[in-house]
Amino acid sequence: MALDSTLVYLNGDFLPLDEAKISVMDRGFLFGDGVYEVIPVYGGRPFRLGEHLLRLENSLAGIRMVPPLTGEEWKAIFSRLIQGDHDQSIYLQVTRGVAPKRDHAIPPHIEPTVFAMCTPIPPLPTAGISAITVDDIRWQWCHIKAITLLANVLLRQEATDRGCTEAILVRNGHAVEGAASNLFAVVEGVLVTPPKGHELLPGITRDLVLELALERGIEAAERPISLAQLQSASEVWLTSSTREIMPVIELDGEAVGEGQPGPLWQCIQRCYQEYKETLRRPA
Ligand code: PDD
Repeated sequence: MALDSTLVYLNGDFLPLDEAKISVMDRGFLFGDGVYEVIPVYGGRPFRLGEHLLRLENSLAGIRMVPPLTGEEWKAIFSRLIQGDHDQSIYLQVTRGVAPKRDHAIPPHIEPTVFAMCTPIPPLPTAGISAITVDDIRWQWCHIKAITLLANVLLRQEATDRGCTEAILVRNGHAVEGAASNLFAVVEGVLVTPPKGHELLPGITRDLVLELALERGIEAAERPISLAQLQSASEVWLTSSTREIMPVIELDGEAVGEGQPGPLWQCIQRCYQEYKETLRRPA
């Protein structure tokens, strides 16, 4: 395998990716005991950084950890990792750290493992995507951005196996979010997204889409979306930091609306791209 010399951050050091190593006793490795963030970077600037760092703090609190670094320290790390002004994303991960023995209970004195890297954002799909609906088999604290992603991995793979881009997760008869994205549907002319709570990740892109809708006078609501509403929605979108706003044009093999990205998506997509462009311009 090719050696990767991209500079990454690990526990206070900047070093080539292929030299960054952690112990097999790290609780992130043994238990998936940690949290992460994915922050897009446009024009060399992290997008909605304050919001991402706040969510990181909330995720850490959710697993009984204190932030290992301040906002200023994170910023200093990111500015060394960001290379050039192409679209890229920062991945950061904080695990509970390395303990001398494998024990489910949290050891009292333990130093967290802190890792960050920056990678290019792959090109986004240019047309609409297809999705499937699946049972949400994840745990009950989906608001925490935990690294423990096995259910998400398996559900996304089910979508891939069926030739689709994303799996939409259904819990108690309601569609909650994608395997790695938030969900929007246009139901009887209203843009709807499920409310924040334990069932879904409070997505940063989700919040921005709601803000943009409000600015443009688009009627939007945060309320549950039943499977039946999803199936009859005129538009369905999935949002995430690295995939932006993806229009779903086929759901479980059936066309969504007219089977092409809808008019509301065209409008929000334009606003979103304009918003992104403001970051690329010098202040
Ligand atoms: N995932 N819901 C889940 C389960 C997610 O994993 C993600 C993002 C989102 C969207 O959140 P945001 O808009 O803040 O990116 C919703 C990231 C991108 C990932 O795991 O790579």
